[in-house]
This record gives sequence, C-alpha cells and structure tokens, in this order.
Amino acid sequence: WVGSLLLMVAAFVLGSIPFAYLAGRLRGIDIRQHGSGNVGATNAFRVLGAPLGALVLLCDASKGALAAWWGLAQGELIAVLMGLAAILGHTFSPFMRFKGGKGVASAAGVFLLLAPDVMGVTVVLFLASVLLTRYVSVGSMLASVTLPALMVWWDKPFPYQIVAVVTGAFVFYRHIPNLQRLLAGQENPIRRK
Ligand code: G3P
Repeated sequence: WVGSLLLMVAAFVLGSIPFAYLAGRLRGIDIRQHGSGNVGATNAFRVLGAPLGALVLLCDASKGALAAWWGLAQGELIAVLMGLAAILGHTFSPFMRFKGGKGVASAAGVFLLLAPDVMGVTVVLFLASVLLTRYVSVGSMLASVTLPALMVWWDKPFPYQIVAVVTGAFVFYRHIPNLQRLLAGQENPIRRK
C-alpha cells in the first residue's frame, strides 16, 4: 500500500500545477486578482483570452487524464483514486497556498479517459447549458450532477461510480459562491466586459 500511497501523492502533485496562474504570469498578471479570481480554465479564458484559456483547459484536463492513465496499470480503483488525487491537487494546490480551481477541467480529463461515453454526453449537456445561459458555472453544476448519474445509470465499474459521486458533490460544493452570485444576478460572464 506504500506504493499506492506514493502514486496518490505523485498524482496530487501533478494536479497541483496551477496552469491558469502560470498562463497569467506569461501576461504579467496574477489571475487571482482578476475576473472571478479562480485559478481555472474559465477564468483564464475570461481574463487572458481564448487562446490561453484553451491552452489552460487542455493542460488542466491533461493532468487529470494523465494521473488516471498512470494508475490504470494498477487497476480501476487506483486509476480513479489517482484521478481524484489530481483533482484535489488542482483545488488545494500547495503552490497556491492550498487554494486553487474548482476541479471541472481536471475532472473532465479523468473521466474522459476512464469513461469517454459518459463524459461525451456530459460535455454535450455542459456546452448546451453554457450556450443557453452564457454562464460556465451553470454548465459545471449541471455536469456535476449528470456525470455521476450517467455513471451509475450505465453501470460503469463501481469505483468509477463512487468517485464520480464524490467528485460531483465536491465540484458542486466548490460552486456555491457561483450559485450565490447567479441567484443575486451577479455571476461573472464568460468574457470580461
Ligand atoms: O470551471 C469553473 C467554472 O465553472 C466557474 O468558473 O471563474 O466563473 O468561477 P468561474
């Protein structure tokens, strides 16, 4: 179990690389001081523009996918736990004083690798809700519910179901400030005005 624990730590460290912060630094700004202040792909897109936002999305999703892929040789349980460790690394990054993003892109990477069919449907629902509402947080919260629901409905491996439920609840919890802003009519738009 020491080996498994070390893999978890490695996945956590991989997940904790703050790509949105690094992209902001390329432009000479601290992304935590701009837009929503979130160290994530959405805020990178909002503050730094589409090319850097897309790059951050790709990097954040890749670190989740890489962590899960790395664990697959040890079985489904280790794979999905390594994915979860990467998501937690992203949200509680030691490089960001244990703050970080909301785990949406990194979770998408994990589950795109482990259950691409479920993630494919989730991405379609996410995109549709973002296009309809113009708020990424609405899509993220919807995805945090549909991902675990589809995982259970399609009878995916039990460890995937459990971790999808935990991840969905966690991502939703991280969006409570967004939910409060939405209800107050003060949510940040996709692009800065
Ligand atoms: O992926 C995070 C997104 O759902 C919300 O980001 O920056 O609007 O809080 P943000």
